[in-house]
Amino acid sequence: MTAVTIDRVGQHVGREVTLRGWLYNLRESGKLIFPIFRDGTGLIQGVVSQKERPEVFEALRGLTQESSVIVTGRIQADPRAPGGHEIAVTSLEVVQRVSETDPYPIQLKEHGVDFLLDRRHLWIRTPRQAAILRIRAEAIRAAHEYMDGQGYTLTDTPIFTPAACEGTTTLFEVQYIDDQKAYLTQSGQLYVEALAASLGKVYCFGPTFRAEKSKTRRHLTEFWMLEPEAAYAHLEDMMALGEGLVSRMVQSTLKNRAVELETLKRDTAKLARVVPPFPRISYDDAIGLLQKQGNPAKWGDDFGGDEETILSSQFDRPVMVHHYPTAIKAFYMQPDSRRPELALGFDMLAPEGYGEIIGGGERIADYDLLVKRLREHNLPETAFQWYLDLRRYGSVPHAGFGLGLERTVAWICGAEHIREVIPFPRMLYRVYP
Ligand code: 4AD
Ligand code: MG
Repeated sequence: MTAVTIDRVGQHVGREVTLRGWLYNLRESGKLIFPIFRDGTGLIQGVVSQKERPEVFEALRGLTQESSVIVTGRIQADPRAPGGHEIAVTSLEVVQRVSETDPYPIQLKEHGVDFLLDRRHLWIRTPRQAAILRIRAEAIRAAHEYMDGQGYTLTDTPIFTPAACEGTTTLFEVQYIDDQKAYLTQSGQLYVEALAASLGKVYCFGPTFRAEKSKTRRHLTEFWMLEPEAAYAHLEDMMALGEGLVSRMVQSTLKNRAVELETLKRDTAKLARVVPPFPRISYDDAIGLLQKQGNPAKWGDDFGGDEETILSSQFDRPVMVHHYPTAIKAFYMQPDSRRPELALGFDMLAPEGYGEIIGGGERIADYDLLVKRLREHNLPETAFQWYLDLRRYGSVPHAGFGLGLERTVAWICGAEHIREVIPFPRMLYRVYP
């Protein structure tokens, strides 16, 4: 018998096929049973009549949710069935029967979030979670495709690092071999800067770690970041790359994951608008805009979630805010030569209140200025000697950014909380399962 997947049954109408999966749900109606099977690619309803298939009927009667099963039957088109097809089951093998006395804990009803998070290893089986994970995979695939197409070479940066990249307050310290100390990386940026001087245009895409003490719907302690870096590139180049990358991730998801977006009941009209050019506003203008909306922000303040939400709500696609005050940005940011109190940096804010999805800009290329900044930020110069070498040997203007994958995917999915878009979220007070 041909083993097929549920997403492909449409190619087998009228024929007998075998599906391998799990029992998602079961409805008994007199002498008929309607099981719903899932196999990771979708759901399909089955039908079994007691009269025609007494042995299958008995095997299915009372079968417990999430029991694993191999099902053989004839595929028939049925416009009323979810997915448009049904399987008339002719035989059934129960691979493992879930015990009646220890039933599958996640029922098809609402559960509390803590209950679900404690059972994340099972929660990921539900159609909503599976749809999100498929969209995540598509967003990653599209991102690689776009970056490769732009001539960027994928490089991998280390996870154990000797120094902080994004401030010392969110560093995870680990005991390295013997008495050595190391930190989990907050960003691959410093390393892609070195790689950009080797390969020209590079990007890394991997896990990053921040000991975030904040419990918000936007923060994880372990998240994935895509970080391009290019030699001889400037702020404007990175804003153009960022809008191209984000729109590709969104448009590819619309094209290739329409079924999943539908499962999530995502308003796709909002996503369809996400095409270049994205609006750009200066920090100066952003402050003015916030004040006009009655927000108490004043020049020099950093933006929190509230400010980001007000700003992004003014636009129908992501907005890029550029030229922030140098004082509120990281040590490596290149100041604007015309107004040194401003940094050649930008953030991209997603619509619908999802906040900052990209942060980046131009890096300090000058040796003396970088040393000065390391001192101002109380960073240990010895750990940064290799980074200073990049300014000793053929320093060039260069720029890059970091795109937070989970924030981007949460927005594409319309997910309420970032914890749903990573298979096993790590957050304040949660490292299980
Ligand atoms: O703005 P950030 O801190 O920038 C950097 O780390 C730069 N070194 C990147 C670079 O230029 N190569 O972080 C970049 C993005 C943010 O815009 C946000 O999307 C995401 O990473 N991010 C988080 N996502 C989830 N949970 C957290 N705790 C995050 N912190 C940052
Ligand atoms: Mg940032």
